[in-house]
Amino acid sequence: MRVSCSLRATMYSVFLAPSVLACDFGRLHDEIRRAEAAGADWHHLDVMDGHLVDNISFGPAFCAAAAKAATKPIDVHLMIDRPDHYFTRFSKFSANITIHIESSCDIPGTLAAIRKAGCTCGITLKPGTPFAEIEPHLGDVDLVLIMTVEPGFGGQPFMPEMMEKVRAAADHRQRGGFRYRIEVDGGINVETGRLAREAGADTLVAGTSAYGAPDMAAAITAMRG
Ligand code: DX5
Ligand code: ZN
Repeated sequence: MRVSCSLRATMYSVFLAPSVLACDFGRLHDEIRRAEAAGADWHHLDVMDGHLVDNISFGPAFCAAAAKAATKPIDVHLMIDRPDHYFTRFSKFSANITIHIESSCDIPGTLAAIRKAGCTCGITLKPGTPFAEIEPHLGDVDLVLIMTVEPGFGGQPFMPEMMEKVRAAADHRQRGGFRYRIEVDGGINVETGRLAREAGADTLVAGTSAYGAPDMAAAITAMRG
């Protein structure tokens, strides 16, 4: 069941998206429900192809199973080299689909096609990629995802130097009259979540510090601030 994402309606309230990569895959249905009971706003799903990033995670069938258990929107992070070819396998059940600027596809064409398929679209960049590379696309997206770790694995340390890109995204949004959300992903916990919010982020992805927390609801509330 695709749940429509009220992205534009509640744009600047802080959302918390637990990253399913950190959950117990053997109990996927229960884990999705546990996250929702704990206050999750979205479910973040990391799709990795072993090419764009040095890891392979899960594909459309696993994501569809997660979506089946969910009542909250599905936020798909495509760490794949050919999102233009594969995104339609996720668009049936996803609310938001984010692609990497480093992927080998026609970026504006793919972003437009994701929207045409009825989803909101996002653009993201690896830590080593300058913010300027995504500037031409800021008017065509509903979400800008700033990676705060090198994509490919959960449980890595947060990179504070990426806050510069969060501030740049916030400045461009203000000056350009854009309406995208600003998401951060990687090493987010209560302290780094506060740093990211102060820099202008309004959507926090959390894997280890959400699914790995002794009290997930308390962790989510604390990270939201
Ligand atoms: C990493 C993924 C993240 C990751 C976050 O490539 O994009 O979503 O699962 O996990 P933590 O919060 O543990 O860093
Ligand atoms: Zn992610």
